Amino acid sequence: MDRRMFLMSSLAAAADLPVVRLAIIGAGNRGTGLLRVALRAPAVEIAAVCDLSEEAASRAAGMAAAASGKRPRVFSGSESAWRGVLELELDAVLIATPWHWHAPMAAEAMRAGKYTGVEVPIALTYEECWMLLETWEKTGAPCMMMENWSFRRDNLAVLNMIRRGLLGRMVHCHCAHSHDCVDHWFFDREGRMRWGGEFLARRNADQYPTHSLGPVLSWLDINCGDAFDTLSSHATASLGINEYFRRRFGPDHPYARQEWKQGDIVTSVVQTKMGKTIVINYDMQLPRPYDNRWMVQGTRGLYDEARSSVYIVDRSPKYHEWEPFAPYQEEFEHPWWKAMRQPQPGADPIAGGHGGTDDLEVRLFLDAARWKKPTPLDLYDSLTMSAVIAASEESIAKGGAPVAFPDFTRGRWRARKPYFGLDSQTGG
Ligand SMILES: NC(=O)c1ccc[n+]([C@@H]2O[C@H](COP(=O)([O-])OP(=O)(O)OC[C@H]3O[C@@H](n4cnc5c(N)ncnc54)[C@H](O)[C@@H]3O)[C@@H](O)[C@H]2O)c1
Repeated sequence: MDRRMFLMSSLAAAADLPVVRLAIIGAGNRGTGLLRVALRAPAVEIAAVCDLSEEAASRAAGMAAAASGKRPRVFSGSESAWRGVLELELDAVLIATPWHWHAPMAAEAMRAGKYTGVEVPIALTYEECWMLLETWEKTGAPCMMMENWSFRRDNLAVLNMIRRGLLGRMVHCHCAHSHDCVDHWFFDREGRMRWGGEFLARRNADQYPTHSLGPVLSWLDINCGDAFDTLSSHATASLGINEYFRRRFGPDHPYARQEWKQGDIVTSVVQTKMGKTIVINYDMQLPRPYDNRWMVQGTRGLYDEARSSVYIVDRSPKYHEWEPFAPYQEEFEHPWWKAMRQPQPGADPIAGGHGGTDDLEVRLFLDAARWKKPTPLDLYDSLTMSAVIAASEESIAKGGAPVAFPDFTRGRWRARKPYFGLDSQTGG
């Protein structure tokens, strides 16, 4: 089977594929979503599900049983029940628990020799980042953060354009995670704090940088020829959470008066070793529609996601005028998405979560476990995206001073070749 055929078959078809035995730890919102995606993928056995809540765990087990006819083992009832999951004969584990569980669970999963996929962010502090790196170096167990926006169809087409030189040499990126999560995620609809809200009381940082940075790392060859050098961050005052509670629940609600540490908008600037810059916005507590505002600019042109437009010198029809991105999406469609869009009997993978992006991401992760290949996103990139939390917190505390960014590749970024989205990554 040649490389391309391999890729197509493992993404799109079920015939004769070795079965991947998968466990899911954390069966809340996202864990259930990942389970649904995994149940749609070919040749996967959900061997176990685990959640602190018995109700969540058995609901997930019921979903798996209904879809596959086989009820997975259920682990529940204590904060350490997940350790039992790692004793099973498994190929892979997906972790979708609250943030503070990610690093300890991922480290144990690596020690148990499983393919480990961890929801975002994979770590919350520098110490957790280094601990994960050292565990990975010792065990060699493949581990990736499940940053789905790295796999988005438009972002991968842009990556293809960049690799073919359309935008020239890369210079600058802008990215954001603008997503009002105060009214449904940091707090529930009744205004009760969920686990995520606790971080807003304790930290002032870019708390959720990975969705913004997902595609940016491969666009700019970060950790593969370039690396983050310094980061500086500024935070605005924290007004949004108080305002929301005043508006929704009245001025006497305790959260309408509580002092929140987390500023509403955090703006970070990364300077790379090779002279590129990246602006990253955290923006999750003010009322607004969802937005990522990706913009990537090179010496020959730029792509602007919010405008869905490009401008490319010597190619765009009118001098210094935008042209639509849509034809470029077709012309530069990434092979992963070509494979995903092939019609399949009885299934439409594009209909899945986040427009099919989650299906692609999970299938690539499962295929890595199936064929014992490297994960589609590596640990260096996973740690780099996540370490922005700690670096931005440090810089904000120092009045916006640039802070040195950790180099998780230990200098290997100079010689490493780009890997993300290349056939050899998944095709063997
Ligand atoms: N990639 C994405 O698009 C995306 C979208 C939503 C959430 N997320 C991420 O997914 C993760 C989970 O978020 P969520 O919205 O599903 O939260 P959630 O609260 O709905 O789910 C978390 C689940 O973990 C369980 N849990 C807590 N401690 C546990 C333990 N020790 N052992 C086993 N289970 C435990 C909880 O009972 C809960 O069911 C977060 O990291 C979040 O940032 C990612």
